[in-house]
Amino acid sequence: MVKKEQLYEGKAKKVFATDDPQVVIVDYKDDATAFNGEKKGTITGKGVINNQMTNHLMRKLEASGIPTHYVEELSERETAVKKVSIVPLEVIIRNLSAGSFSKRYGVEEGIAFEQPTIEFSYKDDALGDPLINDYHAVALKLATWEEIELIKKYAFAVNDFLKKTLLECGITLVDFKLEFGKLSDGTIVLADEISPDTCRFWDVKTGEKLDKDRFRRDLGNVEGAYQEMSRRLLGK
Ligand code: TMP
Repeated sequence: MVKKEQLYEGKAKKVFATDDPQVVIVDYKDDATAFNGEKKGTITGKGVINNQMTNHLMRKLEASGIPTHYVEELSERETAVKKVSIVPLEVIIRNLSAGSFSKRYGVEEGIAFEQPTIEFSYKDDALGDPLINDYHAVALKLATWEEIELIKKYAFAVNDFLKKTLLECGITLVDFKLEFGKLSDGTIVLADEISPDTCRFWDVKTGEKLDKDRFRRDLGNVEGAYQEMSRRLLGK
C-alpha cells in the first residue's frame, strides 16, 4: 500500500490518501487535547498504544459481527482503514455515572446504572459538540432514522463486548464514545478509535483511573495509565 498526500489532521490523528481510493491510512499522534482543544499536551507513547489497542478491539468486534472500518495495521502508529464519511454524531454509552453526566445532573461519579444509557453529541468543534437528540439529528439530516437505529444497536453490542473483555482484565468500563462512518455504498461501519482517549477505564479493585481523565484532571502518571491499559489488554 502506498502512502500518499495528507488529507486531514485532527487533534490526535492524521489521515493520508493511498493508491486505493477506498482506503486511507490513519497515523496516531502523541498529542492530547481536552475541553474542545483548550488544554493541550503530549502523552509520550500514546499514539502507539491507541493504535494497537484500537486495532486489537476492532478485529475482535469485526469477528463478533460488528462491521468496522479496520483493514490492516501497517506500523506501530499507522493503520489502513476503509475510507468513510463520518456520521457527525459522537455516540456515548454509559454504564456508570461520571464526567459530563455527573456534572449535568448533579450526581456523584460511580453510580452503576441498571441499564446502559446512550446519548449523542453533534460533532462540531465551533459549537463545542453540543448534546443532540435523535429527532434533531434527523431534522438536520445528520443521519436517517434507519441509520440511527442501526448505530444504537451496534453501540450497545460494542458495550456488551467491551464490558466483558475489560472485566476479564480487571477493568470497569465506565463510559465511552464511538463514531460511525458510511462507506461509498452507504454501509454503516464502526470508525475512529477505542482507546484510553475515548473511554473511561477504572481498576475494578482500587477504582484507579486508567484513562485520559488523568490528563484532563491533572492527576499525574498519565503515561503510566496508558501503559497499564496496554499491559492488561494487549499483554505488552
Ligand atoms: P463526558 O462524560 O465528558 O461526556 O465523556 C463521556 C465519554 O466520552 C468519556 O469516556 C470520554 C469520551 N469523550 C471523547 O472521547 N471525546 C470527547 O470529546 C469527550 C468530551 C468525551
